[in-house]
Amino acid sequence: MKRRVAILISGRGSNMAALIDAAKAADFPAEIVAVISNRADAPGLGRAVASGIPTVVIESKPFGKDRVGFEAVLQRALDEHKVELICLGGFMRLFTAEFVQRWYGKMLNIHPSLLPSFPGLDPHGQALKAGVRLSGATVHFVIPETDAGPIIMQGAVEVADDDTPETLSQRILGIEHRIYPEALRLLASGRLRLEGDLCKTTGGAGRDGTLISPRTI
Ligand code: GAR
Repeated sequence: MKRRVAILISGRGSNMAALIDAAKAADFPAEIVAVISNRADAPGLGRAVASGIPTVVIESKPFGKDRVGFEAVLQRALDEHKVELICLGGFMRLFTAEFVQRWYGKMLNIHPSLLPSFPGLDPHGQALKAGVRLSGATVHFVIPETDAGPIIMQGAVEVADDDTPETLSQRILGIEHRIYPEALRLLASGRLRLEGDLCKTTGGAGRDGTLISPRTI
């Protein structure tokens, strides 16, 4: 049985599109059963509709600081679609510790840096300012702290001398679109386990000296 996944977005939805594409494969262990946006104007919604995925809009703005109220409506939508796993794809709203606890080990996020470096806003600018020679993207389990939690998969790219936040973000986005579906595949196929705060993987594809770890592709 394929695991039932909801993708939560707030904007462009390019990671959402990568997950939807990957899940089209007959042997992919998860299916995308809903795309949920907290903004009615998220461009990603149109892409989801074009792919035939049911969409739900739960505007978060009217809830203001009432996170519990927003999450009650969100949880109802997740229940209605019998969602088992959540992938955050540029979802720009913080959760309460209670909601995170409810979904611990079942909710993934992607962030465009090699965490724990450069969490939060403008990770590409932060990386350039720090002068790192490698940056990348991280898929991790969600915990109450922003852009933190057990790391499932990372992919790295070189940082060039003449990179700008825009060029670096484009290069990292390519990695994001590769590793997010693979991290979901690992989780949905039962090949991940949590040991305390660390995530362990079984059945990797071996090493070939490239910078995606663990390697499954
Ligand atoms: C992605 O780069 C994702 O890594 C980032 O937002 C972008 C969303 O793009 N997420 C974070 O910064 C989380 N802190 P997308 O809507 O095209 O997937």
